[in-house]
Amino acid sequence: MSIQWFPGHMHLTRKAIAERVKTIDVVIEMLDARLPGSSANPLLNELTARKPSLKVLNKQDLADPARTALWLAHYNAQTLTRAIGLDASHTAPARALVDACRELAPLRGGMVKPLRVLICGIPNVGKSTLINTLMGRKAARTGDEAGVTRMEQRVALADDCYLFDTPGMLWPRIIVEQSGLNLAASGAVGRNAYDDEEVALALLDTLRQAYPDRLHERYRLEGPVESVEQAPAEELLEAIGRRRGALAAGGQVNLQKAAELVIADFRAGHTGRITLETPQEFAVWLAEGRRADAERAERKAVRATAPPRATTRARTRAR
Ligand code: G4P
Repeated sequence: MSIQWFPGHMHLTRKAIAERVKTIDVVIEMLDARLPGSSANPLLNELTARKPSLKVLNKQDLADPARTALWLAHYNAQTLTRAIGLDASHTAPARALVDACRELAPLRGGMVKPLRVLICGIPNVGKSTLINTLMGRKAARTGDEAGVTRMEQRVALADDCYLFDTPGMLWPRIIVEQSGLNLAASGAVGRNAYDDEEVALALLDTLRQAYPDRLHERYRLEGPVESVEQAPAEELLEAIGRRRGALAAGGQVNLQKAAELVIADFRAGHTGRITLETPQEFAVWLAEGRRADAERAERKAVRATAPPRATTRARTRAR
């Protein structure tokens, strides 16, 4: 399955970011700590190339701390890049953000050259919540509807540090299939763009490999943990549906209901603190996605240059 989601207003967001980035010193990219690689917008790289970048791994309260540490180390090893973990329980996050931004742009600051920071992120990553906390009041709109737009706003993080907000943005084509599934599981993608059952099966497949004990415990699955690890995702979904009473008439498991339940549990953190990808895994997926995308482009180019095939009528006439 490929999940595609790029409503028209996101083109406008892209233009707005391209315009604003010219006057910016540091770009803060908010990532979902449960899927840092998949929630990083490749468009942003294009739009903000060479600007110092602060990666904020948000919702770290829902993510696996050991994997968050791996991702932070991964980003902190990159040039002109810093990374911090964050979540909504931080009541005063401005200090950490300003300190990291100052490190990235040490020549900016003071009233003459105030530090100008742009904050970007995919829908639902928690940007409105963070900005509300920074402003100390309900200023930005929050909610879990992917793609909510709003006007750009400016927040003073310090006397000489301004933060410019942008609406949440996805990108036109998600070339890494697993990323599409992870984004859908996290709630970043609008509901109409994916199939619950397919997303739940992919989620269960990841969980059974990386966190079999959590699955076993949450759903009180029968047998030892090892049997969860080895079970196909379809079997797990069925067992979970049965265990949680997601049944249709006749006692059959209602797989749609079971899938919704698994996704909702993951989003709410009921399955435990989970991170769906490691830096190494994501690097492999990205390389595969890029290779498949290049092959697709090549096939398209060949088709475009091939002479048009004769129609049946033309072939009949030629005989
Ligand atoms: P956005 O602007 O990036 O689109 O995201 P927004 O702040 O609207 O947050 C999306 C959802 O994520 C909200 O939940 C919000 O409460 C939740 N959230 C934000 N930051 C964190 C965090 O650090 N940890 C956790 N666990 N959740 C976070 P919601 O259920 O959609 O809305 P609400 O009823 O909680 O406001």
